[in-house]
Amino acid sequence: MKTRITELLGIEYPIIQAGMTFVSYLPLVVAVSEAGGLGILTCSDQTPEEVRANIRKVRELTSKPFGVNLVPYTPGYKDFCKVILEENVPVFSHGLGNPFKLLGVKKPAGMIFMPTVGSTRQAIMMEREGADAIMVHGFEGGGHVGYIATTVLLPKVAEIVKIPIVAAGGFCDGKGLVAALALGADGIAMGSRFCATVECPVDENVKKALTEAQEEDAIVSFRYDGLRLRSIPGKGLKNYRGWWSRPWEIVPSIFSMKSAFKSSYKELWEGSRELMRYKIPLMQFVCGCSKIRVTLSDGAVNNGIIPSGQVTGRLRDIPTCHDLIQRIMSEAEQVAKSVADKF
Ligand SMILES: Cc1cc2nc3c(=O)[nH]c(=O)nc-3n(C[C@H](O)[C@H](O)[C@H](O)COP(=O)(O)O)c2cc1C
Repeated sequence: MKTRITELLGIEYPIIQAGMTFVSYLPLVVAVSEAGGLGILTCSDQTPEEVRANIRKVRELTSKPFGVNLVPYTPGYKDFCKVILEENVPVFSHGLGNPFKLLGVKKPAGMIFMPTVGSTRQAIMMEREGADAIMVHGFEGGGHVGYIATTVLLPKVAEIVKIPIVAAGGFCDGKGLVAALALGADGIAMGSRFCATVECPVDENVKKALTEAQEEDAIVSFRYDGLRLRSIPGKGLKNYRGWWSRPWEIVPSIFSMKSAFKSSYKELWEGSRELMRYKIPLMQFVCGCSKIRVTLSDGAVNNGIIPSGQVTGRLRDIPTCHDLIQRIMSEAEQVAKSVADKF
């Protein structure tokens, strides 16, 4: 299959594994890229030098294209950026904003810059600032979300910008791929769906929870990490009011985040200033993030938080990345034909 995104990224299928904090580590990235999609590595829970080593390992394990994702409020942000630029990764997926503008540097030749946007205004701005493609993330998606549903945001953005568009938020199958293409996208990115795959390095309890939840279980709330997070809170957290309602969790959470970002107190302080710049409540972020990290790695889902999209209600199995991508592509072909037959 050929779309502007397969051409731009040099991949076989227009299917991208979205960057995911505490999730999209080496095994998942390699599995997706090897299966003909685009795997995107997260920088979480690693030092910048460990990210460098992992980028090199991805290159050893696959000759296919891949990406690296970074969000600007990561402690040690500038050092991670430096590594991503020095390693000249094929695709720089950026969670929010423009890293080149933030750092005042030029994009390396040949690197594809693909920021995520949650509104038409951001899409226009990123195109103007030199993005090569954009990932348009709708309200039904997992993780930090905006306000607009994919079905409205995607065609609106597609009518305005000229660069290739990847649709994210709510996709898990061939029907979704065809719908995204019809709405003006050049490919799809999936987060939640790739969390529930054999190669995804999260705890098995998390994958099971994702395949048992209903769509209404993935709610949007500021309560968990201080941002508009769509996630599945465990039963024990349904009445959670915020970090201040569980003061005993504050100190362990600070230590957990220090070890997660493997950062010095100075870097944590700098990261905190970034959070404040984005008006993110610091303690809420620290306590929420450390809960998410523990949930994903240890699988204590009843008292934890799983960032996930509404699409969780449609996930009912745990395939390998290869089987998933093949299934999506063959279903998309059948669906496209059956829609065409109706005319
Ligand atoms: C567990 C999880 C972690 C995420 N972490 C990030 C992140 O670190 N950076 C980012 O740009 N987006 C992040 N996202 C959003 C995804 O990149 C993607 O846009 C989203 O998952 C798409 O919606 P879907 O879950 O319905 O497929 C995360 C999503 C999930 C589910």
